[in-house]
This record gives sequence, C-alpha cells and structure tokens, in this order.
Amino acid sequence: MKFFVDTADIAEIRDLAASGLLDGVTTNPSLILKSGKPMLDTIREICAVVPGPVSAEVTATEHGKMLEEGRKLAKLARNVAVKVPLTPDGLKTCKVLSGEGTMVNVTLCFSPAQALLAAKAGATFISPFVGRLDDIGHDGMSLIAEIMQIYRQYPHLKTEVLVASVRHPQHVVQAAKLGAHVSTVPPNVLRQLFKHALTDAGLKAFLDDWAKTGQSIL
Ligand code: E4P
Repeated sequence: MKFFVDTADIAEIRDLAASGLLDGVTTNPSLILKSGKPMLDTIREICAVVPGPVSAEVTATEHGKMLEEGRKLAKLARNVAVKVPLTPDGLKTCKVLSGEGTMVNVTLCFSPAQALLAAKAGATFISPFVGRLDDIGHDGMSLIAEIMQIYRQYPHLKTEVLVASVRHPQHVVQAAKLGAHVSTVPPNVLRQLFKHALTDAGLKAFLDDWAKTGQSIL
C-alpha cells in the first residue's frame, strides 16, 4: 500500500519525507487555509520535496473554468495530480485532463456508483472519504470494500483507490486488508502507525541490558 500524507504543511511534509516511507501528498482548500500560505507556491514547494503524486484541488465548479484551473495546476510540476470534485462537471474535466496525460484525483466520493463513474472518466485516483461517513453513522470502510469489489470485476480499469478522510491507524490497516492502493493519512495518524507500547518497552529493556555489558559496536 502507498502512503500519502494529507496536509499542506511543508515542515511536516519535509519531516515525513525524510523517513523514506512517503509516496505522495494530498491537499485540499481547507488544508491550504490551515497552512496560511499561497496555494501555488505551496504546491510547487511540496512537489520539489516529494517526487510522488501531489494532489492540488481546483476550486471552480463549472467545467470550462475547472479545466482552465486544472491545466494551470498541472503546469506547476510534473508530479501534480489535479483534484476535481465528484460532480458532473468534475468528471467531464477529469476525462479531458486524463486524456491530456494529467494525473487526476477525483475527490469527495461517498458511494460505489460515484467510484464507478470516476473510473470510467479515467481518474488516476478515486478518493472515498471513510472518516466523514463514519462521522454520520455509516460504515466508511464498507464503501472501500464495495469499490474494491467493483473495480476487481473490470481489470482494464486502472483507477487506484485512495482511502481518504482517515482518522486512525485502524482505518489504514482495514484499508490494506481490503487491498486499497493508497491511504492518505494526516501527519499525526501517520506517526501513530510507528508506535506500539511493547516496542518502546522492549527497546528500553534491550538498551538497559546492553549498557550493563559495557560493550560498544563502534
Ligand atoms: C483527501 O484528499 C482529503 O483531503 C481528506 O482526506 C479529507 O479528510 P477530512 O475528512 O479529515 O477533512
């Protein structure tokens, strides 16, 4: 499974990229607002740090304008994935941009039917939002299961399932069990993936015993 980080905070991205485990980045208008920085500069900067796909979202809602914005975003760097909303205009834009060789991430997916349409429109990524479904009492992960099941029936579809709106490590584990291609994870949740109390306790015990040997490897 590929790991993307869901943030526009360049300091966080640099730090996580240094782990060597980061495959890409997703941003959205709310994350740009949170960063307090100009969007275009931020996307350029992120693209220079992370070689994998960096999602940059259009803000127009009408096809012509969306296409214009998408083309402008795609020119920022070769690893930009233009993010479009799952609306009729968004999918029309997806079809054109993917035909031009631009990566497209179709966002705000909440149903299997929407995911099927995005794949037909040539999306590089479909982003189902699991956390927001959980928030309203639905089972976000069952949407991932349904989309994976549908896409498996049509092996010619190349759209990757990018699990979004991830709230905790179990979302990532469950998505991986279902074979989802990518999880986009907030920085704090990405850091939680490393952690286990028994790892910390075990390491402390080993290092305490090592110190008692009086030895040194170097
Ligand atoms: C995905 O690309 C979105 O940016 C993101 O995962 C949304 O998550 P949220 O529901 O925590 O805002």
